[in-house]
Amino acid sequence: MNTVFVFYDKKFRNQVFPELVPLKYFSKYTEQNIIYKFLRAAGIFRSEFFLLLGGDEVQACVVLRKRPGLTPLGMNWFIYGVAVKKEMRGKGLGSILIKNLLDYCRTKKMKRVFLYVDFKNEAAVNLYLKNGFKILKIFNSDRRKRHSGEYLMKKDF
Ligand SMILES: CC(C)(COP(=O)(O)OP(=O)(O)OC[C@H]1O[C@@H](n2cnc3c(N)ncnc32)[C@H](O)[C@@H]1OP(=O)(O)O)[C@@H](O)C(=O)NCCC(=O)NCCS
Repeated sequence: MNTVFVFYDKKFRNQVFPELVPLKYFSKYTEQNIIYKFLRAAGIFRSEFFLLLGGDEVQACVVLRKRPGLTPLGMNWFIYGVAVKKEMRGKGLGSILIKNLLDYCRTKKMKRVFLYVDFKNEAAVNLYLKNGFKILKIFNSDRRKRHSGEYLMKKDF
């Protein structure tokens, strides 16, 4: 399948929400609400929302978010919301999505990118390892704590 990696456009809204992404993330991903607009304008938060199109349809999506980081006063880019259409999984689209995203990060001269992933999510963990991500930190399962049961992964460029 020929694929194209593009920025989110509202004409794809119905193919993305809630087909691929729960509706509750709509304003967060698309920055359609005043708080996100303000945070973006102030240069604090930033989200770039991408789609992978194939056969005229949305096959996958991913968000790149700039957030207060892992270092004091630092801002870092995080990959978030990676999702491939259910019936299209296991066909290489996740790899195409991540490769395109990493190319985009390189063109933006990012030095590194981070992500959190549930360590039981074998498909996702393998996808990231295969694309050069390293496990930076393991958050043991403890429901009271943020990122419980997740890996923090990092890719350096
Ligand atoms: C994780 C996800 C994005 C992978 O996308 P995909 O299109 O199925 O992945 P690909 O077909 O490109 O596979 C790429 C690699 O991922 C790994 N992988 C994919 N599916 C796998 C599975 N079921 N079990 C183990 N590894 C798997 C493999 O290493 C694979 O490489 P290989 O085919 O050379 O062995 C997809 O399963 C998905 O959307 N899952 C639900 C949402 C999710 O969990 N997102 C991650 C949040 S952090």
